Amino acid sequence: MRHEIVEKNVGLLTVLILVVISFGGLAEVVPLFFQKQTTEPVEGLEPLTALELEGRDIYRREGCVGCHSQMVRPFRAETERYGPYTVAGETVYDHNFLWGSKRTGPDLARVGGRYSDDWHRAHLYNPRDVVPESVMPAYPWLFNNTLDGEATPKKMRALRALGVPYTDEQIESATAEVRGEQEITALIAFLQQLGTVLKDQ
Ligand code: HEC
Repeated sequence: MRHEIVEKNVGLLTVLILVVISFGGLAEVVPLFFQKQTTEPVEGLEPLTALELEGRDIYRREGCVGCHSQMVRPFRAETERYGPYTVAGETVYDHNFLWGSKRTGPDLARVGGRYSDDWHRAHLYNPRDVVPESVMPAYPWLFNNTLDGEATPKKMRALRALGVPYTDEQIESATAEVRGEQEITALIAFLQQLGTVLKDQ
């Protein structure tokens, strides 16, 4: 029997299992590249400003993504707590994605506008000053470090190569927009725009 040949030959069995599994994977993954819902930006989505972009890099550098997801799942418990669930079209300009998977702290996908800038400053300087039971680390150095903006245009050009529609003017004015700003200002600018495109719908 031909089936017996497959069952008694571990090498062949392994290869055939891999073929079957990869077909299953491809059937799930490939269509997503062609669906507008997953590839087109939602209406009103703008690329991050130079300052917000630097804030995003600080968010990555400080490992915020290790404790905070940016992805509201389509469950009632989540939408009641955080707001409308996240759709793919909101994150098409994100390279890399910051969806995360660990929630030591709350999801941040819709945190934009929830608190004032002053609240964020106090919270990031020492979370326990505003939330006494918080286990979030303090980030006091963000208040001392300032940005020089030297690399900002390069980052924007790299993102443009990946499909983020930055204009030449935005790239040219990026360094001037960012230079001299405190890191905390950039990080808060990033936080305050999170999820605002779809927030009120
Ligand atoms: C060790 C895990 C941890 C890390 C790392 C961490 N956080 Fe948090 N974060 C928390 C916890 C826990 C809370 C809930 C308590 C509180 O509000 O402080 C929180 C709350 C927040 C909130 C308030 C969210 C809300 O809806 O109330 C914001 C905003 C926030 N964090 C931003 C950040 C940023 C920005 C960074 C990186 C600079 C960061 N966090 C890093 C654990 C963390």
